[in-house]
Amino acid sequence: MTTWPVHGRISGPIVMIGFGSIGRGTLPLIERHFEFDRSRVTVIDPVDEDRALLDERGIAFVQQAVTQANYRDLLAPLLTQGGGQGFCVNLSVDTSSLAIMELCREIGALYIDTVVEPWAGFYFDRSAGPEKRTNYALRETVMEARRRNPGGTTAVSTCGANPGMVSWFVKQGLLDLARDLAIPHDEPRTREGWAALMQRVGVKGIHIAERDTQRARNPKPPRVFVNTWSVEGFVSEGLQPAELGWGSFEPWMPENGREHEAGCQAAIYLLQPGANTRVRSWTPTAQAQFGFLVTHNESISIADYYTVRDEAGRAVYRPTCHYAYHPCDDAVLSLHEMFGQAGEMQPDWHILDETEIVDGIDELGVLLYGHGRNAYWYGSQLSIEETRRIAPYQNATGLQVSSAVLAGMVWALENPEAGIVEADEMDFRRCLEVQMPYLGPVNGFYTDWTPLSERPGLFPEDIDESDPWQFRNILVR
Ligand SMILES: NC(=O)c1ccc[n+]([C@@H]2O[C@H](COP(=O)([O-])OP(=O)(O)OC[C@H]3O[C@@H](n4cnc5c(N)ncnc54)[C@H](O)[C@@H]3O)[C@@H](O)[C@H]2O)c1
Repeated sequence: MTTWPVHGRISGPIVMIGFGSIGRGTLPLIERHFEFDRSRVTVIDPVDEDRALLDERGIAFVQQAVTQANYRDLLAPLLTQGGGQGFCVNLSVDTSSLAIMELCREIGALYIDTVVEPWAGFYFDRSAGPEKRTNYALRETVMEARRRNPGGTTAVSTCGANPGMVSWFVKQGLLDLARDLAIPHDEPRTREGWAALMQRVGVKGIHIAERDTQRARNPKPPRVFVNTWSVEGFVSEGLQPAELGWGSFEPWMPENGREHEAGCQAAIYLLQPGANTRVRSWTPTAQAQFGFLVTHNESISIADYYTVRDEAGRAVYRPTCHYAYHPCDDAVLSLHEMFGQAGEMQPDWHILDETEIVDGIDELGVLLYGHGRNAYWYGSQLSIEETRRIAPYQNATGLQVSSAVLAGMVWALENPEAGIVEADEMDFRRCLEVQMPYLGPVNGFYTDWTPLSERPGLFPEDIDESDPWQFRNILVR
């Protein structure tokens, strides 16, 4: 039997909010890798579908939705009872990350989530314009909270696979590139240092380039949205505007592209839903592929983190950064069906679990492009078979996320007074060290492919041949 390393001790209560596909997968990793008092763990979820997993472990379950009205009264006692430092692991949809994070910091409890989630209703509020429904706006609320209240108890914002782990991959990928391009450098220690190295290596942009090839035993039934992780989460973010970190190498913007007036200015949004916006990208298994430009926190945080400014504070270098997501084939069909119905979600949904997937991998990495070696993909190629062998209750997609949550929790315990942080600001080596045993093969691949490969084809196209890596060439129009 494998002996798993114990990475630390959680001295107070643990509260997990949400026990869906990611919560179910994270719990056994917490059990494996931390010392804690099982009688002080509580899971909160309005749905009790997986309650048996908790009952057999003697873990308390509160069947309730965390809401704006009840979160203080519900969470504060649970996170403080009995002394020690509490740890809140927020893995639910429809709960405000900001509100819960601020409460945790007030009472001195550590906090982690995987997305800047709003209270229920935000994503589908027709009275709010598209700009208000962006991840940029959501992220700015967290950035504002940190400006208002710097330092203090650690709250790790958006630390799943992506957002999360991919920010650690960007750093490793960048160091690989600097080595292979023989660019003399010391490993940077500051944000400015990392941004300067990105500029020196000459990276024009970064795709979070993912191909999920997991296939289910049974084909997708009509009018059911099928995915390998939260359907509610995916539909919500998929109907937000497409968003991307907007780099300094982009002379062209789509007509429906919009800039923000306030905030970090690192990103733009398009007046169209991300899950109905296709981009050209590349992963090692798929090779050239279409991905969806679904909005994600990391598109903005990475572009922001790697911005180089002049003395007047003007941005002089920034990589473009966005998601290029090819979900599992059933999810592609589900999106096609949903957008065919004017974006009206199917009446039923289903998340594929590890028992019904017959084969496939989740190939999730970062494609750093536009430099002296063209493009470099660095990432994880975790298979369903390996996932089943190494961790219970989850598929390959889930394990990439839950193991990032584990890494983020370890980092928070080791850095309990770091304030509000994003994955870009954490020690990527330590986090990857914790996570690596769960990621399957993690490798780097160079490619000669560009978004102009084989183009134009049989028809004339509006392309910019002076630079293959322009967003103009990447966006499918
Ligand atoms: N960063 C990443 O890489 C990443 C990856 C996957 C999922 N996520 C995010 O993690 C979260 C969980 O994903 P999942 O796949 O487990 O989703 P899921 O849909 O399987 O589970 C969500 C759970 O939250 C519960 N829930 C709903 N409203 C709640 C409330 N008000 N209070 C408490 N619980 C509530 C649901 O009943 C459900 O069990 C989502 O927000 C998702 O977007 C992030």
